[in-house]
Amino acid sequence: MKRASCLSNLPPYPFARWEGQVNAARRRGFDVIRLDIGNPDLPPPDDVVETLCHSAHQPDRHGYPDYRGIPELRQAVADYYDRRFGVTLDADTQVVPLIGSKEGIVNLALACLDPGDLALVPDPGYAPYTMGTILAGGDVHTFPLLAENGFLPDLDAIPVDVADRAVLMWLNYPNNPTGATADLDFFARAVGFAGRHNILLCHDAPYCDVTYGGYVAPSLLQVPGATDVAVEFNSLSKTANMAGWRVGMAVGNADALAALAQVKSNVDSGIFRPLQEAAVRALAADAEWLAARNAIYGERMEIVVEALGAAGMETTCPRATLYVWAQVPMQWLSEPFAQALLKDTGVAIAPGPFFGPAGDGYVRLSVTAPTERVREAMERLRQFVAEQ
Ligand SMILES: Cc1ncc(COP(=O)(O)O)c(C=O)c1O
Repeated sequence: MKRASCLSNLPPYPFARWEGQVNAARRRGFDVIRLDIGNPDLPPPDDVVETLCHSAHQPDRHGYPDYRGIPELRQAVADYYDRRFGVTLDADTQVVPLIGSKEGIVNLALACLDPGDLALVPDPGYAPYTMGTILAGGDVHTFPLLAENGFLPDLDAIPVDVADRAVLMWLNYPNNPTGATADLDFFARAVGFAGRHNILLCHDAPYCDVTYGGYVAPSLLQVPGATDVAVEFNSLSKTANMAGWRVGMAVGNADALAALAQVKSNVDSGIFRPLQEAAVRALAADAEWLAARNAIYGERMEIVVEALGAAGMETTCPRATLYVWAQVPMQWLSEPFAQALLKDTGVAIAPGPFFGPAGDGYVRLSVTAPTERVREAMERLRQFVAEQ
């Protein structure tokens, strides 16, 4: 069988190879604790599940859904942006429901990039920014996220000719994998940069409601004029513990969203209607539910950060996301450290280079395992490091 040549440019997905090692540890009899992937272990709010069940029992909810999403869902997204960020969106032209934000991220690349077009991508970063670009035949120019800059890009360090050539730029705050956050001043500079270089700025914000210690993450669309140059991706996967349901959204610049919707109408046929109705409910989730859920993650974060500190692994307690980004102990490289930890203790964490070369020297730990399991994993890690 012939394969499209762009597939040979796709780097192998590191977590696929890693999965083999996790399974090997299981076969060796380890009770494996997975802190390597960010897959929420807690359920969505009850009323969201009930809405899905109720709707699925209706005989008229099983046909092809609307391509652009039911108007109630688009309006619920607009209401959420208004309530949460004070951002006004036109529910008809500035909101596109997605089958999870990953789908939209890749399809936006297909909608905007011609072969040879350039996308600016953070390193370390979420792999689909790169993969979507490659699938579209585009070129990737990475910019580093460095600890000394608070894991924000140094926009002035991007060469002018590169910026002028770029069609898309990806940003993601609160950030996976570093846990870093960005404020509105940085977003304003990014919007200015995108405007000056005629770049579509794509901000990916699935962790904006997974926050701790009173931190409130801003939307990039709060910057005046942002919708002239930017789209924002968001998702119910982490906000409402709905990762397996596959509901996300793209909002902002109407032209970019029309192009995205054009690709989608040719590729998929929308979101199952009962899921859309449940998503409407999830978008109205009460603040108490969110605070209680975040308190659980927050407690786990503290356990992880304290244990890493005791093991001499430098890190800071993140204000958002599901991830702790920690430096590996002195004598180790990232992947050998994660491999040895998995092999000797059954604790799976993600090597930093899985997210790009600038992740070298780091590992990522997620807090999506039950609290007692997180505690147990940290005890195993402490012992492992002490024995080296
Ligand atoms: C930065 C980032 N963007 C997008 C996604 C994908 O989210 P979704 O489940 O909505 O496709 C993830 C999932 O881990 C992520 O970390």
